[in-house]
Amino acid sequence: MCGIIGYLGQHEAAPFLVDALRRLEYRGYDSAGIATVNKGALDRRRAVGKLVNLSDLLVHMPLAGKSGIGHTRWATHGEPSERNAHPHKAGPVAVVHNGIIENYRDFRSELKEMGVDFVTDTDTETVALMVEAYMRDGDSPRAAVERLLKRLEGAYALAFLFEGEEDLMIAARKGSPLAIGHGEGENYIGSDAIALAPLTDKITYLEEGDMAVLTRTSVEIRDADGQLANREMREVKQDNVRVDKAGHKHFMAKEIAEQPQVISEAIGHYFGASGHQIRFPSDDIDFTTVSRMVLVACGTAFYACLTAKYWIEKLAGIPVEVDVASEFRYREPPVGKGTIALFVSQSGETADTLAALRYCKDKADRIVSVVNVPESSIARESDVALPILAGTEIGVASTKAFSCQLTVLLVVALEAARQRGTITDDRLADVTSALRGLPSRINMALDNEAVVETLATELSEARDVLFLGRGQMYPLALEGALKLKEISYIHAEAYASGELKHGPIALIDGNMPVVVMAPRDALFDKTVSNMQEVMARGGKVLLITDKAGLDIAGDGLWRSIEMPEVEDLLAPILYAIPAQQLAYHTAVAKGTDVDQPRNLAKSVTVE
Ligand code: AGP
Repeated sequence: MCGIIGYLGQHEAAPFLVDALRRLEYRGYDSAGIATVNKGALDRRRAVGKLVNLSDLLVHMPLAGKSGIGHTRWATHGEPSERNAHPHKAGPVAVVHNGIIENYRDFRSELKEMGVDFVTDTDTETVALMVEAYMRDGDSPRAAVERLLKRLEGAYALAFLFEGEEDLMIAARKGSPLAIGHGEGENYIGSDAIALAPLTDKITYLEEGDMAVLTRTSVEIRDADGQLANREMREVKQDNVRVDKAGHKHFMAKEIAEQPQVISEAIGHYFGASGHQIRFPSDDIDFTTVSRMVLVACGTAFYACLTAKYWIEKLAGIPVEVDVASEFRYREPPVGKGTIALFVSQSGETADTLAALRYCKDKADRIVSVVNVPESSIARESDVALPILAGTEIGVASTKAFSCQLTVLLVVALEAARQRGTITDDRLADVTSALRGLPSRINMALDNEAVVETLATELSEARDVLFLGRGQMYPLALEGALKLKEISYIHAEAYASGELKHGPIALIDGNMPVVVMAPRDALFDKTVSNMQEVMARGGKVLLITDKAGLDIAGDGLWRSIEMPEVEDLLAPILYAIPAQQLAYHTAVAKGTDVDQPRNLAKSVTVE
């Protein structure tokens, strides 16, 4: 939800801090700030809004010093403003924070009794003020932080700097990710390896409850019990991370266009270069003894799980329960022997999903995750982590990660069916062959761009939009609605098309576009009936289907998008393309911030 960076280096810190924050902006962009220690003096610069505002400020008011911390914010407590921007400072202490301190009001009461005044509405300010208070009691910086950590409740990734301490940084992690970067005579901290990529690929991930004390030449990590902890240093190779849009106007456009390539890589990873032998860690996952699967995720990843439910139940005959992570654990659902719990997360750091995983940890037979960041918290806490190989996804609206999640979840369903003998070898070969042909069909779907762009201009005038789908296309309708609303800010919702006549059809009038996602499959005729009920009431239907579908139901449509024919099972992956393009071009037509939509962040690391 927020991005943190720390630099103890041989060079001026500010440029490195700002560059790292640019790589962390996907985690939040309400405000940004840095602090440095220069000749013993602790100072800071902060700016509300995008990082560019901080960069501009630093041009006019540069900040010297070779020790520094930085932060880019997604507001949790206190509105986005310079006053509430991190780093927060109290006397000789500066701190940046990602997470939520759940007992910060207790500290505010204590501090008020000490006669302390507050200048912000944030929970993080109380962290700085408490450490300052302990230092006034005579504690060293380290002792003061240790003392406070014992009392903090909630989630935090923290980094501290101290007046007069040019070669000291203290970091701590509980519930929010934090990594140490190891340089030559330099050391760093960052919310993730992406931020540290230009500085180092030698990364140590802090674990729950860890506290780290850094100098330029040493890193000492202690666990929650205060014992020295020997955390593994890994080499984390970054793909050519970002940082350009490869000629596209937005990262989202680039990532939509990358789907044929990344899906092809995912297929190659699980099937090799030819044949239909699934390369799956089956020695770690025995589907023959499974009586139930539980799939848990948030947002787009949740819709991928909903789609997988259709595939796993149909192909492998395993009952599947799907839930949003923020609801799952609070239901206290029964999870026991014979259950595989599977978690899907692009970032691998979503707090709700990680918490749901931990709920299942000592209950389910196996904890499996489908993630895009192999070294993320969710991946590291799983028994088996299945990579989706989508490459770094910067656009806040998930696109290539979604289609890669679906691809890997289909592999899971096929492997489960193979192990349980519920799929013939011929059928497995057919589906695998269709998967290998999917990237070329995605390229054909991408060629609809001009049609979609024209359509989107009209759609951008709508106040409300309805998405309909049936069977395995219903989760895709939900995803299409989410894509549209999260980047164009147009209200959109989705229904199983058979559900329309049970109430939502009252919404239909000549002003509301209805997007129907329906390949010519076994449910097509029923979907067409639902669609005609809409048209009979003056509804404006945009039908997304293939040629066979248009031949049957092409009359009287408001608009249509023709898709290539595809194996039924693969339709949800292929039809994600027009859903993404529709949202993208509608948002562009509306002039919204496509890559960094208002109020959102790419990785939601708070509950
Ligand atoms: C996707 O377009 C959204 N930005 C959001 O719903 C996202 O899918 C959700 O926050 C889950 O994120 P994760 O996959 O990183 O766990």
